[in-house]
Amino acid sequence: MAVNVPRLVSAMYLRVVGFVFCFAAQAFGQGAGSDYPMRRVADMFRPVSRPAEMIQMTAILVLIISAFIFIVVTGLLVYIVMKFRRPENDDGTEPAQIYGSTNIELAWTVIPILITVVLVLVTSRTIGEIQNAKMPEDALKVRVVGHQWWWEVHYPDLGIITANEVHVPMGDRDPAKSKVTHLTLQSADVIHSFWVPQLAGKTDLIPNKDNELWIEPYEVGVYFGNCAEYCGTQHANMLLRVIVHTPEEFQKWADQQKAATAPLQTPEETEGHRLFFANSCVNCHKISDTVSQGVFGPDLTKLMTRQTIGAGVAPLNKETLWSWVRNPQVLKPGSYMPDMKLTDKEVDAVVAYLQTLK
Ligand code: CUA
Repeated sequence: MAVNVPRLVSAMYLRVVGFVFCFAAQAFGQGAGSDYPMRRVADMFRPVSRPAEMIQMTAILVLIISAFIFIVVTGLLVYIVMKFRRPENDDGTEPAQIYGSTNIELAWTVIPILITVVLVLVTSRTIGEIQNAKMPEDALKVRVVGHQWWWEVHYPDLGIITANEVHVPMGDRDPAKSKVTHLTLQSADVIHSFWVPQLAGKTDLIPNKDNELWIEPYEVGVYFGNCAEYCGTQHANMLLRVIVHTPEEFQKWADQQKAATAPLQTPEETEGHRLFFANSCVNCHKISDTVSQGVFGPDLTKLMTRQTIGAGVAPLNKETLWSWVRNPQVLKPGSYMPDMKLTDKEVDAVVAYLQTLK
């Protein structure tokens, strides 16, 4: 079969250029602004936490080596395609056939082996430095449990449970003021993967195994992450955000999470409370200091303090909450929360009650 090599090469180039263009548009197009959109491609070239900075150095070295190989190989390819293309006056005879060259074969075996050895050594060193880092005594301990398709977040020392967002205090490059967050990663069902590119590398959440990860962000802000291991229907909507506060703001957040919720005020809120406890909501959700102690779904004690609903599927507000309670399958098809078949009026009441959880 005849292969049109110049056409093949130009098609390949178009594809590469297209990919680079799409990537750049995604990475830089959505970067600006302080109103946190629901999804944002995190700029992995702008790390703001120690482990991510260590990984970046290795990544840049790998990129430089790969770019060099790419340029040499495609450069040679293009040169050969142009120089040895079929001439106008081709008489159809076969050119001289040359077999074997010890020098060339040695070169293309030994050089790649050397490059691979360098990459293996550099990568192992970075992984080792991150994994063997000694955790300071005062590190904030957080336990993250992956579920299909949301994140359960515990602060065992603070007695706080939340979901889909990890609040942490800002660290400092000065070791005296350092504030590390030490995460233990677990899974309630299948394998998930915790990935917040600007803060640390990917680490899997594996059933019956505790994995460790640590971060020390140097800038206040919201850092976007997602599940990075295919885990079922709504894997793409298993989003998470790490919210970095100044130490004072973090303390304020923690105090709010532990404070008692305000008593119910309106008859609608009271009716919603009655409906919530009369239905099977209590089997799956936990609300502190009530009989609702389910653990299958997210803890709702301080639901309204969160930024999103359904693990980042929509911003959390009255409208999205209403839609979710009416039928979660609309916002997140496949979600394990069933349609509770409440009437519109009942949904109004339940939403009024849920809105008091703050
Ligand atoms: Cu969890 Cu993908």
